[in-house]
Amino acid sequence: MIVTVQQHILQQQSDLFPEARGRFSSLLSGITLATKMIQAKIRRAGLVDILGTAGEVNVQGETQQKLDVFANQALLHCLSPRESVAVLVSEENEQPLTIDRSESGKYVIVFDPLDGSSNIDVNVSVGTIFSIFRRDSPDEPLLKPGYEQVAAGYVVYGSSTIFVYTAGQGVYGFTLDPDVGAFVLSYDRVMMPDSGRYYSVNEANADSFPLAYRSYLARLRQQSYSSRYIGSLVADFHRTLLKGGVFLYPPTRDNPRGKLRLLYEANPLAFLAEQAGGRASNGYGRILDIQPTAIHQRTPLIMGSRHEMDEFDRAMSGSLN
Ligand code: AHG
Ligand code: MN
Ligand code: MN
Repeated sequence: MIVTVQQHILQQQSDLFPEARGRFSSLLSGITLATKMIQAKIRRAGLVDILGTAGEVNVQGETQQKLDVFANQALLHCLSPRESVAVLVSEENEQPLTIDRSESGKYVIVFDPLDGSSNIDVNVSVGTIFSIFRRDSPDEPLLKPGYEQVAAGYVVYGSSTIFVYTAGQGVYGFTLDPDVGAFVLSYDRVMMPDSGRYYSVNEANADSFPLAYRSYLARLRQQSYSSRYIGSLVADFHRTLLKGGVFLYPPTRDNPRGKLRLLYEANPLAFLAEQAGGRASNGYGRILDIQPTAIHQRTPLIMGSRHEMDEFDRAMSGSLN
């Protein structure tokens, strides 16, 4: 018999509030419902007026695509009414949205409603990324290090629509079955290969990468690695998760602190990478150990298989022979 995301969560013996696993499953239902609405729009792009820019600029200073706005509205619409939601943090909203300041035992959900916006109009895979923290009391700080996440995941809207998540007990993947209308278990405990044959980086920025990154990448080319870069973080991560290798968004001239956002891109994917046996670094240390200071802060992001990450650490310490 099929196993859906909701059933899987209820079976998970995770470190969630044992008495609130039902609440958590309801939270996941809000996310999966929103992503089904988003994928329905994506699948009809070109037939309905969902392509192109929304004519606005978001808090990131980036032009919002119509699908960015729709995806954000779908997540806010599906999550706000859930009784387990305390706060929502979105790439598309400058400030956090406080939904419920009452009793404890609630959750903070952080998300990138649509990742890879530049690829929407050319029919290349895009995604949604989410990260979930417990909020034990209304007065505790909103900004917590990534190791305090209780769950994280993404949906990649590709040749199929796949929901990947972890609640701290391993990584699981579910494929949207259009006949059932549910995400059905298709990857039971994903483990990232110990090493891979791909590296993934935007080579156009290579001249401004710090020297250690350039020597690391030169060494990978000498070792006959192949290059794959889609430009949608979720798609580049999904390939790295399944095939191994390494993804990098280093510091660049335009983004000396890195381009990717810590709270709703690096943290959730770092949690997944570690749960699948891989690693994720900001070039100096573990992504999950970073204490955030702002909800939209950026970070360099290097993540992938154990072997490639060990080599990266050696490059950064200057001990690549
Ligand atoms: P978003 O669409 O949510 O703004 O994210 C875009 C990000 C990420 O998906 C991708 O890895 C990166 O931008 C690509 O940046 P470059 O085009 O600079 O390589
Ligand atoms: Mn993104
Ligand atoms: Mn986005």
